[in-house]
Amino acid sequence: MTHPHLPVAQPDLGGNELAYVSQAIQEGWISSTGRFLTRFEADFARFCGTRHALACANGTVAIHLLLLGLGIGPGDEVIVPAFTYVASANAVTYTGARPVLVDSEPVTWNIDANKVEAAITPRTKAIMAVHLYGHPAPMTALLDIGRRHGILVIEDAAEAHGAKVEGKTVGGLGLAATFSFYGNKILTTGEGGMVTTNDDELAARMRQFRGQGMDPERRYWFPIVGYNYRMTNLAAALGCAQLERAGGLIAHRLRIARGYHDRLAPHADRLGLQLASEAPWASSVHWLSCIRVPAAKRDSLMAFLAEHQIETRPFFPPMHRLPMYSDPSFRQGRPLPVAEELGDTGINLPTYTALGEADLDRICQAVIAGLAR
Ligand SMILES: Cc1ncc(COP(=O)(O)O)c(C=O)c1O
Repeated sequence: MTHPHLPVAQPDLGGNELAYVSQAIQEGWISSTGRFLTRFEADFARFCGTRHALACANGTVAIHLLLLGLGIGPGDEVIVPAFTYVASANAVTYTGARPVLVDSEPVTWNIDANKVEAAITPRTKAIMAVHLYGHPAPMTALLDIGRRHGILVIEDAAEAHGAKVEGKTVGGLGLAATFSFYGNKILTTGEGGMVTTNDDELAARMRQFRGQGMDPERRYWFPIVGYNYRMTNLAAALGCAQLERAGGLIAHRLRIARGYHDRLAPHADRLGLQLASEAPWASSVHWLSCIRVPAAKRDSLMAFLAEHQIETRPFFPPMHRLPMYSDPSFRQGRPLPVAEELGDTGINLPTYTALGEADLDRICQAVIAGLAR
């Protein structure tokens, strides 16, 4: 019997998505103004508990916009986890500032707060907390470090819509946060991003940068070099429909994470398997369900799963293994052993609403068989 192909990710567009996009088209508002944009920003700000939410073209430019709004540029440093998606570091590079890479911790796979202070220099302007795979970064410890050293703390929450730290939703924990709505994210607009903040002046600066730098008091007067980083009303229409169902979309991520855990945990020790764990202070939204396996077996397990029509993805390579961040100065000459180990051992498993219990059975049986070979 041939089994259907199971992708890593698949959007769930089963609510009002089609109706809202159709309305936007019928009403003729397809560009970067319109009622869905206004509503999406207001609804997303409420979702995060912040005063402002600025929709933009994607999660990468959301970070760039935030760094521009903070005035970060040449001569500055931003602390970033070595183990992250490349956009976190690249957005720092766009501004002319330098990302300084810090190692991760092995349990939640986020930046190791105990290693952050050693990386602070007189040039450090901000710490970027990245909430990886849906598990929040150690915000309480990072905010404490930021306060003691007079350094801003920002969140890259691209992968963690709705995750919580001590009961508080990400997006409003630091000075500002950024999100991605790429097609594989928990909430999607196809391509899209958002910046959230409670800071009125920062929001105003980012709004200006987002719209070509146009003077808010004088139309078609451009006193600064700005960008076109706007979201379309069509994308926002998708976003409104997704946000209506945020609770249900997140519940499916938790169901799938639990489904993998229940099936794989009994075999973990025997097979050298490590499952995702949640810190006591955190509520993860499990954007992608993940496992870690012995490095020597990782790629062959992925090939075995592919033969069984199960798509997987390896964990992100740590930034210092990429050509542009390989110079030891990006890590202040320090080794980053945990980030390297994560990059060598992690696998993202299929995670999306339509994944049923029989699919989870099939994937887990294949994982166990593949590792036991
Ligand atoms: C941690 C992280 N930061 C930033 C981004 C960039 O978002 P986008 O792909 O929407 O530009 C992503 C995702 O794709 C991400 O996972």
